[in-house]
Amino acid sequence: MRLENEVYVVTGALGGMGKETVKRFLEEGAFVAAVDLNVDGVEESDRFLPIAADLTKEEDVEKVFSATNEKFERIDGLVNIAGIAQSATPIEEVSLEDWEKIMRVNSTAPFLTCRAAVPYMKKQGNGVIVNIASISMVRPRPGLNAYIASKGATVSFSQALAIELAEYGIRVNVVNPGPADTNMLAQFSAKEADVEATKDSIFKKSVPLGRLIKPIDIANSLVYLCSKEAAIVTGSVLNVDGGRGI
Ligand SMILES: NC(=O)c1ccc[n+]([C@@H]2O[C@H](COP(=O)([O-])OP(=O)(O)OC[C@H]3O[C@@H](n4cnc5c(N)ncnc54)[C@H](O)[C@@H]3O)[C@@H](O)[C@H]2O)c1
Repeated sequence: MRLENEVYVVTGALGGMGKETVKRFLEEGAFVAAVDLNVDGVEESDRFLPIAADLTKEEDVEKVFSATNEKFERIDGLVNIAGIAQSATPIEEVSLEDWEKIMRVNSTAPFLTCRAAVPYMKKQGNGVIVNIASISMVRPRPGLNAYIASKGATVSFSQALAIELAEYGIRVNVVNPGPADTNMLAQFSAKEADVEATKDSIFKKSVPLGRLIKPIDIANSLVYLCSKEAAIVTGSVLNVDGGRGI
C-alpha cells in the first residue's frame, strides 16, 4: 500500500473528485479526515473522520486540524480539493461580491489550510501538500475570469510554499484537472446555456484524448504525488487533462 498509516486531510471530500480521492486514499492504507461544508449522515470509523467546516473561516480551519490531530495524532498530508465554479460571465457583469467569493473559496481557503497544516508537518520533519487548481489557468476559457485568476493564484502560492518549505522536508505540488465529469462542470456554462449540449460540444471536444476527465483520474494522480514514489517531486504542476493544456 502506498499511503500506509499516513494521515491526510482531504477538503471538498464529498464532491465529485473528493469522494473518489477519499476512497482511493483509504484503499492505499491512509487515515483520512474528510472535510466538506456538510457531512450530515457520514459515519466516522477508526480510519475515517468526517468534519463539517467552511474553509473560508479561520476558526473552522483551526478546528479541522486540531480535530484531525486529536484523533490520528499526526498530520502527514493535506489535499485541497474544495472549490467553487464561476458561470461564464462577461467581465463588466462580474460583481465585486462574486469575485471576492470565488477568490475566498479557491485561493484564501488553501492559504488558511496550508497555514494551519504546516506547524504539524514542521514538527514531524515531513509532509506533503497537493492543491487542486485547473488547466484553465494554462488555457483560459472566455468568461471564467475570476475562477481562472483564483486558480492562477493557487499555483503561484503552491510554488512559493514549495521553495519555502523544502528545507523542512515538506513537498508542495499542484494538480491541474481538465474538464471533469462532476457536478461542477455544468456550473461553468453561461447561465442561459444548454448544459448537457455544452458538455459534449465544448468540454469533451476540447480534450485531445477524447473524453472528459474522471474523478478516478484525479484521485490516482493525488495518490502518486502523495506517495514515496514522488519523494523528489515538489513545486510541480501535473496536468491531468487529456492534453487540453497543450
Ligand atoms: N469539474 C471540473 O471540470 C474541474 C476542472 C478543473 C478544476 N476543478 C477543480 O477541482 C476541484 C474539485 O471539483 P469537483 O469537480 O469535484 O467539484 P464538486 O463541486 O463536485 O466538489 C467541490 C466540493 O467543495 C466543497 N466546498 C465548496 N466550498 C467549500 C467551503 N467553503 N468549505 C468546504 N468545502 C467547500 C463543496 O461542498 C463540494 O463538495 C475544485 O477545486 C475545482 O475548482 C474542477
